[in-house]
Amino acid sequence: MTPAEEQYPLDSDVVEIMGKPVGPPKRATLLIRNISQLVTLQGASPRKGADMNNLAIIESAGLAVSGDSVLAIGPSDEIEGQVDLAPGCHLIDAGGGVVTPGFVDSHTHPVFNMTREKEFEMRLQGKSYMEIADSGGGIRASVRDLRATDEKTLRLRLNGRLDRMLAHGTTTVEAKSGYGLSTASELMSLEVIKYLNERHPLEIIPTFLGAHEVPDEHRSNRAEYIKILINEMIPQVAEKNLANFCDIFCEKGVFSVVESREILKAAAKHGLKLKLHADELDSSGGAELACELGAVSADHLVSVSSDGISALAKSNTIATLLPGTTYSLGLKNFAPARDLIERGAIIALATDCNPGSNYCESMPMIISLACVHYRLTPAEAICAATVNAAAALGLAGERGQINIGGVADLVVWDAGDYREIPYHYGVNLVREVIKSGKVVVQQNKKA
Ligand code: NIG
Ligand code: FE
Repeated sequence: MTPAEEQYPLDSDVVEIMGKPVGPPKRATLLIRNISQLVTLQGASPRKGADMNNLAIIESAGLAVSGDSVLAIGPSDEIEGQVDLAPGCHLIDAGGGVVTPGFVDSHTHPVFNMTREKEFEMRLQGKSYMEIADSGGGIRASVRDLRATDEKTLRLRLNGRLDRMLAHGTTTVEAKSGYGLSTASELMSLEVIKYLNERHPLEIIPTFLGAHEVPDEHRSNRAEYIKILINEMIPQVAEKNLANFCDIFCEKGVFSVVESREILKAAAKHGLKLKLHADELDSSGGAELACELGAVSADHLVSVSSDGISALAKSNTIATLLPGTTYSLGLKNFAPARDLIERGAIIALATDCNPGSNYCESMPMIISLACVHYRLTPAEAICAATVNAAAALGLAGERGQINIGGVADLVVWDAGDYREIPYHYGVNLVREVIKSGKVVVQQNKKA
């Protein structure tokens, strides 16, 4: 045996424990030392009420990764003695910085070409979101543009947005279609998501949102579009395995509760899990419908009724709140986050990144907005952006936490206390991002 082999047993080495062969001991391929606060979020997934403030922090910690998963966590000065280091083990000195799980952004619309900054300016001049939509802007303007865009351009646009999400600490993202609104262009949007999911370090959970709006060509006969959704699009999306979820914009003037129920029931029959844009601009019973159908999440909820909150509190449906959208629409009333928490609902936070109501890829920005406008504690906001957001994607216990043996999705921060994340806002404090054990963002500094 060479000295190196003595130190690092070969992969083929078989160790016996009580007469049973087991694989070779795992060795660290990545080691992070000198962490001020290791924010593990170990424990219940998702969390409710007061438990949202429990981040399960280990002070002065170190963390070892083996391959794609977390191998060990412990005191920084002891961690190296606890694990064998694989040859070439990547060492990161966190320099007294915080380490958190990667964020889970559970609601985004990132597949589009044209941006709509003109509408942002129109809103600042007093026009409402619905007025702009009715006068030829809004979702249907994005649809006309996407249909005239080639697939390669859409891939490039999505790639840029995923890069920015990753650079701000997101390691798992949900991505919706919804700017195609024809069978061919909805399938193409989902194929673009699939293409990047296979190539980009960010893990993408795809959602079919063909019921985002009624497109121009079906405005005079919406029943016809609903038939296409139910008989053509949903079966094909399911058959091609292009989406985990089906979502709908359940809103006055878009899809009614009755239409939403019919479309979502068809999606569930085809094995898709459900999400709803519910009570975003007006209270229309979207939250109640989400609970009735056992949807995984009801999203937006700015105008949710008291009955809607009660229904959410009694259910496992996650209330996904999107404070960036209220902020960017310039509205004064934010979703009743404190009421939702205090009455027992499970809440998550997401960006809603889209070209109309909120063009923002940054989860730290969303966390900051949630603290200031919802009055969440920094701990509650981080919980809602990690462990609870994982549950909103059907990934409870699998993402959004740092668990031994779990996937190593980590962010090393240029901040010594987790409360700095919302407090020191509008700048990027992310230093390293690790996705499935691999460093995918490094040092966050000039080349
Ligand atoms: O979540 N509400 C519907 N969808 C988006 C807005 C889409 C757009 O304006 O392009 C949202 O806010
Ligand atoms: Fe949305």
